[in-house]
Amino acid sequence: MKIYVINGPNLNMLGIREPGHYGRASYGEVERMIEEHCRAKDVVPVIYQSNHEGALVDKIQEAFFEGADGIVINPGAYTHTSIAILDAVKATMLPTVEIHISKVEEREAYRQISYVREACIGTVTGRGIDGYKDAIDLLIDHIRQG
Ligand code: DQA
Repeated sequence: MKIYVINGPNLNMLGIREPGHYGRASYGEVERMIEEHCRAKDVVPVIYQSNHEGALVDKIQEAFFEGADGIVINPGAYTHTSIAILDAVKATMLPTVEIHISKVEEREAYRQISYVREACIGTVTGRGIDGYKDAIDLLIDHIRQG
């Protein structure tokens, strides 16, 4: 099984940015955690981060063309603004799980909208970086049941 784990803007700043919301682990540590978790589950991850909306759209499309089984995505702030990311996920028809490190539903009003959510089979929020493992498990269970 191959899955894409796609991260949006400013997630490369994990460990530096707003530790009250996002914790102290660096993006590199998150990547390693995802790799280890996937290895234990016999899943091959393609892990990607970009600060650019179009690059994220390209990567979502790549997941389709490369025959991935599903996507885990944290679109960062593009969650709340990007119809392009929503459309890209819909276009792939791949099972997709949305993940947010922070509990977005308890934060500012402008974080209450998620465009991508309607294309997702599930959403994980407020579990810190461990939420990536929960999102991957949700996706794997969905694919293996399917
Ligand atoms: C985030 C929440 C977003 O509102 C924010 O813009 C981010 C990170 C999260 O993981 O909690 O960049 O997606």
